[in-house]
Amino acid sequence: MNKLAIDLNNIISETTPYELLSDFGKRLYFPKGIVAQSAEANQRAKVYNATIGMAVSHGEAIELDSLKKLLPDLKPAEAVTYAPTGGDPALLKLWKSDMIRKNPGLIAESISTPVLTSGLTHGISLLMDMFVDRGETVVIPDMFWGNYRLMIEECREASIASFPFYTEDKKLNIDGFTETIKKSAKNMKAVVIVNFPNNPTGYSPSTDEAHALKNALVALADEGYKLLVIMDDAYFGLFYETDTYKHSLFNELFDAHENILAAKGDAATKEHFVWGFRVGFVTFGCKGMTAEQYKVLETKMGAAIRASISNCSRPAQSLLLKAMQSPTYEAEKKSYEAELKERYLKIKAIIQKHQDDPVLDPLAFNSGYFMTYYMKKGSAEELRQKLLEEGIGTISIQDKYLRVAFSAVDDENIEDLYERIYKAAAKL
Ligand SMILES: Cc1ncc(COP(=O)(O)O)c(C=O)c1O
Repeated sequence: MNKLAIDLNNIISETTPYELLSDFGKRLYFPKGIVAQSAEANQRAKVYNATIGMAVSHGEAIELDSLKKLLPDLKPAEAVTYAPTGGDPALLKLWKSDMIRKNPGLIAESISTPVLTSGLTHGISLLMDMFVDRGETVVIPDMFWGNYRLMIEECREASIASFPFYTEDKKLNIDGFTETIKKSAKNMKAVVIVNFPNNPTGYSPSTDEAHALKNALVALADEGYKLLVIMDDAYFGLFYETDTYKHSLFNELFDAHENILAAKGDAATKEHFVWGFRVGFVTFGCKGMTAEQYKVLETKMGAAIRASISNCSRPAQSLLLKAMQSPTYEAEKKSYEAELKERYLKIKAIIQKHQDDPVLDPLAFNSGYFMTYYMKKGSAEELRQKLLEEGIGTISIQDKYLRVAFSAVDDENIEDLYERIYKAAAKL
């Protein structure tokens, strides 16, 4: 193993994160190569800085005029230069303070600095690389975003252990989490992904459920289980009911137990309506970790980024940073969040009207972009095809569920969309 990796591992050797690292995670280190030497030169090379592989003219990075006129408010340094591997420090600082504002239980010194990733998919994929070895198991409720399967099963050659997302009375199946963790833990170690608001169901826990889930995980930690709990907060903030827990579970878990490493994956993607920007973040929290120990996790994740995509899009980071600093930004965001809530309320009323529908049984939902029907009879794929014939796109899952992304259909068309779905289902 490289000496730099050994040095990093020594700093965290007494912690749960170290025990949870995969072999690859243990081997990761950030080389003292071009990036490190260039950083040194930025401080000291006052005559000529001939370190980094960018082209400079008259003291600034070269930016062609055709591009410059499309990005008039960005300087070349903000538009075309490489961003640091772990992200623009100003954006990381702003993202962290915004996260604390929205999750007021968090303590700045008790969590890591976020590491910037190329979207949330990338963040989760990096976590899988750092913490999951071939043959290990990742615990996820049965209603999950399909891309996890590719990451876990094909990329990591690990497996998924799942359990019903809901209890029979349509509540969050907290016992399912604990039983499945116990069954699938290897050497008392387990990796869990929680995704609220959930894709595909659109469900987020109530405040009581969030606390019960935290308590259940802490009880496992008390028994000696070492847990990596990954929060996939892709749809964070889109909560439509008063009794929903309106923070990330990270708010509960970052400092909950020495045996729990909480990793918050979030992104500007859906939360800030910039899907193609590819800006996401991973932030760590584990009781008792020092800033120096968090730095090791940040460095290892930075190393995994350096080895794969080197660094993430600079203009996307600069635009997001400037937009988030705009005084009207929060209000602009709120108005679109309110629009999504309007659609949600409309759908709730329509569903109420159809509560005795013989085919479509809506799963409990209260947040996010989606809602999903369970097919009491008939095939979800057949229904999807029927709807497609009418020019309506939906997603069928396992032939049993039909997911509707109401985020993608204008408010004035919601009633028509749902009436057509119920009509098509009646013809199955
Ligand atoms: C639950 C969930 N997580 C992550 C993502 C991916 O986010 P990103 O586009 O930032 O990679 C999605 C996108 O559909 C998602 O539904």
